[in-house]
Amino acid sequence: MKWTATALLLLALLGRGESLEVDVASISKCSVACTELALALRDKVSLPQNSTYELEDFQYWSNQQSSQRPTCRVTPSCAEDVSLTLTILKANNCQFAVKSGGHASFAGASNIDGAVTIDLRNLNELVVSESKTEVSVGAGMVWSSVYLELDARNLSVVGGRSGAIGVGGLTLGGGISFFSGRYGWACDNVNNYEVVFADGSIHDVNEKSFPDLYFALRGGGNNFGIVTRFDLASFEQGKMLGGQTLYTADNMPALNTALYNFNINHYKDPYGAVILAYVYVPAEGIFLASVDLEYGKPESNPAILANFTAIPSIETTARITNLTDLTIELNSTQPSGFRETFWVFMVHNDVQILTDIQALFASQIPAIANASGLLPALVMQPISTAITSHFTSNGGNALGITAADGALLLINISIAWTDIADDDRIMEFAANFISSGVALAKSRNLAHRYIYQNYAAAPQDVFTGYGPINKARLQAIHQKYDPTNVFTKLQPGYFKIN
Ligand SMILES: Cc1cc2nc3c(=O)[nH]c(=O)nc-3n(C[C@H](O)[C@H](O)[C@H](O)COP(=O)(O)OP(=O)(O)OC[C@H]3O[C@@H](n4cnc5c(N)ncnc54)[C@H](O)[C@@H]3O)c2cc1C
Ligand SMILES: *[C@@H]1O[C@H](CO)[C@@H](O)[C@H](O)[C@H]1NC(C)=O
Ligand SMILES: *[C@@H]1O[C@H](CO)[C@@H](O)[C@H](O)[C@H]1NC(C)=O
Ligand SMILES: *[C@@H]1O[C@H](CO)[C@@H](O)[C@H](O)[C@H]1NC(C)=O
Ligand SMILES: *[C@@H]1O[C@H](CO)[C@@H](O)[C@H](O)[C@H]1NC(C)=O
Ligand SMILES: *[C@@H]1O[C@H](CO)[C@@H](O)[C@H](O)[C@H]1NC(C)=O
Ligand SMILES: *[C@@H]1O[C@H](CO)[C@@H](O)[C@H](O)[C@H]1NC(C)=O
Ligand SMILES: *[C@@H]1O[C@H](CO)[C@@H](O)[C@H](O)[C@H]1NC(C)=O
Repeated sequence: MKWTATALLLLALLGRGESLEVDVASISKCSVACTELALALRDKVSLPQNSTYELEDFQYWSNQQSSQRPTCRVTPSCAEDVSLTLTILKANNCQFAVKSGGHASFAGASNIDGAVTIDLRNLNELVVSESKTEVSVGAGMVWSSVYLELDARNLSVVGGRSGAIGVGGLTLGGGISFFSGRYGWACDNVNNYEVVFADGSIHDVNEKSFPDLYFALRGGGNNFGIVTRFDLASFEQGKMLGGQTLYTADNMPALNTALYNFNINHYKDPYGAVILAYVYVPAEGIFLASVDLEYGKPESNPAILANFTAIPSIETTARITNLTDLTIELNSTQPSGFRETFWVFMVHNDVQILTDIQALFASQIPAIANASGLLPALVMQPISTAITSHFTSNGGNALGITAADGALLLINISIAWTDIADDDRIMEFAANFISSGVALAKSRNLAHRYIYQNYAAAPQDVFTGYGPINKARLQAIHQKYDPTNVFTKLQPGYFKIN
């Protein structure tokens, strides 16, 4: 492909002045790579303007991601296709991104301008083992499709709570589930990973075959290989209680106290799950509390949730139903097609810090309140010892949290908006809020260093949050399995270990 003066000018105007030569070189390398890929993989490769390309390039949650334009999109249907794709990309020194459910929010995380996107959506096979204790899941499936098949068999796995989230991204970063009190996070429940290594070879990675890499995949994100299949521990699961309950903001003190107590008491009944969101409604200029309450058995009023249900609510969708239904409901409240950012930090369990962080959020909202299509939420989730006691399963995950850290609260902000002109001030608001929230927690000795990869914004230093020992261990494992930096340089997007 020839680059015209207009195209070069356009690239320069996009603020790429300094790296212009590199970019142009990389883009033409990818044109060659795409031609070779099309010869090798035929209709699994699509180019811009083709309806397959356009449809797939639209399947991202945030607009920042769907506006990326790869030179071609590759949609492999087996691990061998992924391996072949990787080999061609390496031979041409062409950069790439890998996509599962496409829910990472920032540009470049799982889609890439002027390079190649590998879309795992057709790795969508689900196989239940004869003993029903393991379910093998293709790395491009979304959770509601997994649950649809498992609910019909009264089985389940530890996975996402929103239906359109991908198995790949959620499981590689950690993975908080409604069942985490019983089993830990999704990463703690992977028996085996099928992985395409940097050299293109395909391996089963488990505690016996590659114990170091098995450790690294439980929190290491996209730095170690392309996972093509997850073999997940499964368990019997019938209908359960779940739904969203809306409260007026004057109930925040009672909700905060209920959350604090839930966090302490969760180990006594790990079937409970809570997400507390403090949401600003620009049209009304008010805040509301939206609380997800779940219980893993078909019981309508479990004691572990009674402190929440005793608070008078505006409305609730609480009901006994199946997991598929709950994940479809959550997905419908988090529509795609907006500009999005999410950020995260963690604190120790404390009512006053919850109260003060909410006040901080409310006090800073006016700076962005008039942005069009704005929907900002501050979300608090208990990371109880019931949950973290499972972080030692199968030799332990890489996250750097132990039950000895006590009950923790994961705090994330999630902001949706529509106008690109508001990007700068919204990112500034988010960064300011996070740094002032962390500073407040530090000043009271309530800060915890962990930064949850799945909720983090691009500027956040995820792997430092795992602590110096785990970070160094992950770096050494990366060096061993990816010595030429295929997954950290040729795949530039998302959180990098080196
Ligand atoms: C609306 C919404 C609801 C959410 N709910 C939850 C929740 O309930 N629990 C929770 O823990 N998190 C939740 N998250 C966070 C979510 O886990 C992360 O956004 C996660 O990264 C999404 O995974 P994905 O596969 O959909 O994303 P993608 O954007 O496809 O992938 C994210 C990253 O992982 C990499 N990756 C994906 N698959 C593979 C693979 N097979 N091999 C190698 N690398 C891979 C990609 O390259 C990319 O860098 C939610 C996010 C949103 C937006
Ligand atoms: C679009 O791309 C697909 C996949 O490569 C191919 O099968 C199809 O023929 C293309 N369609 C058009 C109209 O070129
Ligand atoms: C799950 O619940 C929904 C809503 O009640 C229902 O339509 C669906 O058939 C259920 N699925 C299974 C597998 O039970
Ligand atoms: C699942 O459990 C329900 C309720 O106990 C039962 O009616 C149904 O037959 C079970 N289905 C399967 C496939 O075991
Ligand atoms: C409910 O709240 C009370 C204090 O009001 C507390 O003592 C109790 O432990 C809480 N129960 C649960 C299950 O969190
Ligand atoms: C999630 O919601 C979107 C609408 O924003 C819809 O297009 C999509 O089909 C839903 N996916 C699932 C798995 O429910
Ligand atoms: C929106 O609010 C900001 C910050 O308060 C202000 O500077 C800006 O002028 C406002 N814009 C509009 C269109 O009202
Ligand atoms: C953070 O907050 C939102 C609430 O809007 C919640 O639904 C979501 O799962 C959390 N995570 C991310 C990545 O936004």
